[in-house]
Amino acid sequence: MRSAAKRNSGPRVVRAKASRNIATLDPRVGDADKFLLPTYKRQPIVFSRGQGAYLFDATGKKYLDFLGGIAVNALGHAHPRIVRTIRREAARAIHLSNLFHNQYQGPLARKLAEWSGLDRVFFANSGTEAIDGALKLARLCSRAPGENPNAPARKHRILALENSFHGRTFGALSVTSTEKYRLPFAPALPGVEFVRFNDIADLEAKFDGTVSAVLLETIQGEGGIYPVSEDFWNNARALATQHGALLIADEIQCGLGRTGRYFAYQKFSSKPDVAVVAKPLAAGLPLGAILTSEAVASHISVGLHGTTFGGGPLVCATALAALETIEQQKLLANVRERGAELRAGLEKLAGKFDFIREIRGEGLMIGVELSREGGPFVTEALNRGLIINCTHDYTLRLLPPFIITRAQVREFLKLLEAVFHAVPRSAGAAVPQAHSNPAHAAHTAAGSQGLYLQTLTQKR
Ligand SMILES: Cc1ncc(COP(=O)(O)O)c(C=O)c1O
Repeated sequence: MRSAAKRNSGPRVVRAKASRNIATLDPRVGDADKFLLPTYKRQPIVFSRGQGAYLFDATGKKYLDFLGGIAVNALGHAHPRIVRTIRREAARAIHLSNLFHNQYQGPLARKLAEWSGLDRVFFANSGTEAIDGALKLARLCSRAPGENPNAPARKHRILALENSFHGRTFGALSVTSTEKYRLPFAPALPGVEFVRFNDIADLEAKFDGTVSAVLLETIQGEGGIYPVSEDFWNNARALATQHGALLIADEIQCGLGRTGRYFAYQKFSSKPDVAVVAKPLAAGLPLGAILTSEAVASHISVGLHGTTFGGGPLVCATALAALETIEQQKLLANVRERGAELRAGLEKLAGKFDFIREIRGEGLMIGVELSREGGPFVTEALNRGLIINCTHDYTLRLLPPFIITRAQVREFLKLLEAVFHAVPRSAGAAVPQAHSNPAHAAHTAAGSQGLYLQTLTQKR
């Protein structure tokens, strides 16, 4: 057995013969198998570095990264400005207590307020933590003037959507509808009810004065890239206002530029009371944020919420650099233009491969729904040096970085076409007759809602 000192002496580049599996050669994978909690089914690849839209594994093999750390690496890997900022700030002060100001938290909050049209910001460490904070805000706002602030709130119900994913801490998990994530940890937060996706009648039936918040992903990510319809959004906005509840938009996956707008809700004419962001905010460093209106913010006071790490100088400087880069490099336009090229290319592929059922999404957040399991396509893509993901068993999820070039979109489409050709028809079970995804039926019934979406009904 290798000594601990030797094991820790830095990455040992393993030059695997092409035919051999890196996992069987790399002792670090053995350590992971032995010492990590088995919460992930990991691909047997050890990545050692990235550059722009590419990643390189420990054997030196190059991969085009169309997953971006699940919507995190919006500026790709090793972006020079991000690297410079992290180096500079690491040599100054990585962390300072929130009992003091740092140079970057205020300016970053100002930038997020400008982007979102909201007024105030709280910095957290992750998406799930920010969702929990947003739920706490809803509780605070739900008390009527004069109501005992320490007694359980009468207005305590929270409406979330079927097919939602909001995170893994107890609050966020309680509003996540997917039962395999939630039920093993029951009982969850009380008062949560799930509304059928894009079903206005169900929303109206469940809404009354006891509801403190309605929470939705503007575009469901983990659930398979399903955009909330304009009608549903408008009704949620109106009902929340009418009943004194908060409309909370989870923009953790779809926000901060991914759709070609700063926030996905900006395609609608109204704003949420609270928006939650995380993933790409600090270009790969962990940072989440709750953004809210002055009216909501007026319910919070010193000591009611907090965090040790959230909003430290290193992460905030990096986030500020990331947002400024998105502005200065005009990356929203790139997201829209490359997204349109990607869509056009995927539509062409849909004409060639009859197992492509539907293409959904906006900008660089795209789901390609198949009539067969997506797993074998993901594996074949990896073999060919392409990183994609499959969510909800049948939907290939594409989340390339905002810096993606026209040539890289072309490279992706060529690779994907080769993958589609290479996977044998016998690989992967066909989609069951009754589709298990509750968003799907509602979404298909609602039609395209003017969004980037192509339903290939003739293929079913
Ligand atoms: C829409 C959405 N909300 C919340 C979360 C949870 O974020 P985190 O993993 O940073 O806790 C995710 C993560 O995938 C997400 O996609």
